[in-house]
Amino acid sequence: MRRAKITIIGGGNVGASCALWAASKELGDIVVLDIPKMADTVKGRMLDLAQCSPVERFDAVILGTADYADIADSDVVVVTAGVPRKPGMSRDDLIQTNVKIVRSVAEQVAKHSPGAVMIVVSNPLDAMVYTAWKASGFPTNRIVGQAGCLDVARFRTFIAMELGVSVEDIQALLLGGHGDDMVPLPRYTSVHGIPVSSLLPAETIDRCVQRAKGGGGEIVKLMGTSAYYAPASGTIMMVESIVRDKKRILPCAAYCESEYGVGGYFVGVPCVLGTGGVEKIIQVDLDQAETALMDESISHVKDLVKIVQETFPELA
Ligand code: NAI
Ligand code: 2OP
Repeated sequence: MRRAKITIIGGGNVGASCALWAASKELGDIVVLDIPKMADTVKGRMLDLAQCSPVERFDAVILGTADYADIADSDVVVVTAGVPRKPGMSRDDLIQTNVKIVRSVAEQVAKHSPGAVMIVVSNPLDAMVYTAWKASGFPTNRIVGQAGCLDVARFRTFIAMELGVSVEDIQALLLGGHGDDMVPLPRYTSVHGIPVSSLLPAETIDRCVQRAKGGGGEIVKLMGTSAYYAPASGTIMMVESIVRDKKRILPCAAYCESEYGVGGYFVGVPCVLGTGGVEKIIQVDLDQAETALMDESISHVKDLVKIVQETFPELA
């Protein structure tokens, strides 16, 4: 049986960590592509990873490259190419640099792997998924952004820390863009089926919500650059659902028309992910306060896309 082919564009911190998680879960053969200047580095990193296989017991062809011919016929392409933020920067500050990078990457992906599902990770995420969509011409079901899997994992981690229970028993829902105005939803958060509101006081839940919203910034402040283990693990959870056709319901930046009243933008919503990419968007009822938060987040996404459209009219 043919193994799935997983390509990662951008072999830096997030990209290399994606390769590590994908290899350890034996999801398929892996190609990691970087710019020519980084060719030896990415080749070395992937050779290093391949040499873990006898110990960690995975079988996969793992390749570092700077040649787009090597990504041909990938099933999934993950885009992590771009600059990360530094202390004092917001994700939005990266837009001018990363639009150019993501646009050129998406054009190459469309040329060399026209049938792939593309998962965009580069920031500012919601604007970069839009950019990749416009530049690739991919149908909206085969282009999706990773943010919610990370953001909800942070929220679940903080709830588990407060309760002193296994993270596995925390289920949570999170909507909206990948900014500090993302929308964690305590009303849809439970602990082994028990509503979290019956186990934790409202102030504690709110502390977890605020910490999840600022979770990226907390790590940038500590490390001087942005997170990579958890972003990569969230990304590979999406890759696994696609290549194994698991049809998991995961929070992803997906193209919404009527859903959540978005009107034609990529925004974080619960999606069914399978070999077809985004196979379904799940709509949940929001109360008045939740709707107001979601609308604010959607409006921020629209502002970011407007910057892309105004600066690069060819992407409008
Ligand atoms: P990094 O600097 O460690 O790696 C980026 C890599 O992209 C570098 O190796 C660079 O050479 C490569 N690259 C640059 N231009 C390229 C091009 N045209 N083609 C191929 N490769 C290219 O950065 P890191 O930490 O891996 O972050 C990557 C991106 O992911 C950043 O934009 C960051 O903000 C974003 N990010 C998004 C998250 C999310 O949840 N959506 C979470 C964490 C990071
Ligand atoms: C994060 O949330 C910076 O988007 C990145 O860690």
